[in-house]
Amino acid sequence: MRAGSRSRTSDWVAALRALYSEVPDELRLARDDVAVSLLSPGLAALVRGLTVRPGVARAAHRLIGATTLGLSYGVPLRTIAIDEAIVRSVTEGTRQLVLLGAGLDARAFRMPELAGVTVFEVDHPSTQAFKRERTRGLVPLAERVVSAAIDFERDRLGEVLPNAGFDRAKPSVWVWEGVTMYLSQDAIDATLDSLEALAAPGSRLAVTYLKRGFGGVATRRLGEVGATLIGEHLRTQQSPDELSARLVARDFVVEADESALDWATRWPADDARRVREYERLAVARRRPLA
Ligand SMILES: C[S@@+](CC[C@H](N)C(=O)[O-])C[C@H]1O[C@@H](n2cnc3c(N)ncnc32)[C@H](O)[C@@H]1O
Repeated sequence: MRAGSRSRTSDWVAALRALYSEVPDELRLARDDVAVSLLSPGLAALVRGLTVRPGVARAAHRLIGATTLGLSYGVPLRTIAIDEAIVRSVTEGTRQLVLLGAGLDARAFRMPELAGVTVFEVDHPSTQAFKRERTRGLVPLAERVVSAAIDFERDRLGEVLPNAGFDRAKPSVWVWEGVTMYLSQDAIDATLDSLEALAAPGSRLAVTYLKRGFGGVATRRLGEVGATLIGEHLRTQQSPDELSARLVARDFVVEADESALDWATRWPADDARRVREYERLAVARRRPLA
């Protein structure tokens, strides 16, 4: 992230979630009535304009998909896959959800399943300031929402979270959605080290990552230019085996590792074939201590 400025990538992924909440039924993946209210007025107006008529919304879906080489389809799909992992943990009794690099994630405000859960939103302070502004007046559905500021490149999660009231003795569910690709490998490893110390046995982690060598050369170049234009750099790619080894070394067992190609089965066939495999989602469980 650029020093002193908030994340713009969080705006764009929230805008895609808002778009896919407002599109016609056959394209809609989930209702997220909060997403649009978290956007800046300009982006909210754009989403409303693009979804004012079903025909315009269908055209926007195709056009944005084509110009991002299919990248835009992955965002709403990954969010649903992560929601399912969270619901599994909550159903098993987990009462702490940690959103690493929360951005404009609306889960604390839209998921009724979080009624008995404390949600820790961990992010860069400049992104959090904007989120505070946008969520003023919104009533969370989660039991409690706690903000904890971090710069993953400099700060240690193990120091930040316990100070925010996180209880390492109790199981937790962790979401690291659309963040690792913007971090150095050192920051990722340090954060995973903290998770090893903070995640009680049975805790679950849902982490997305950019697949090593994703797309073709042109796609990678487009991704890098696009990220740079909105103030980020694509810094880290990983293979499923590399990430799995990192998780296993910290006593996590990988339950699933899927991409948008797997999640796309939720969409009608003609849209599913436009989806590409760039980002993957690994869901892992912390092993019981020996
Ligand atoms: C693409 S957004 C994803 C936001 C959210 N997880 C979602 O999917 O909507 C990336 C997030 O990572 C955060 N981020 C990037 N670099 C960071 C850093 N060095 N320290 C803390 N947060 C960082 C940004 O502030 C932003 O909220």
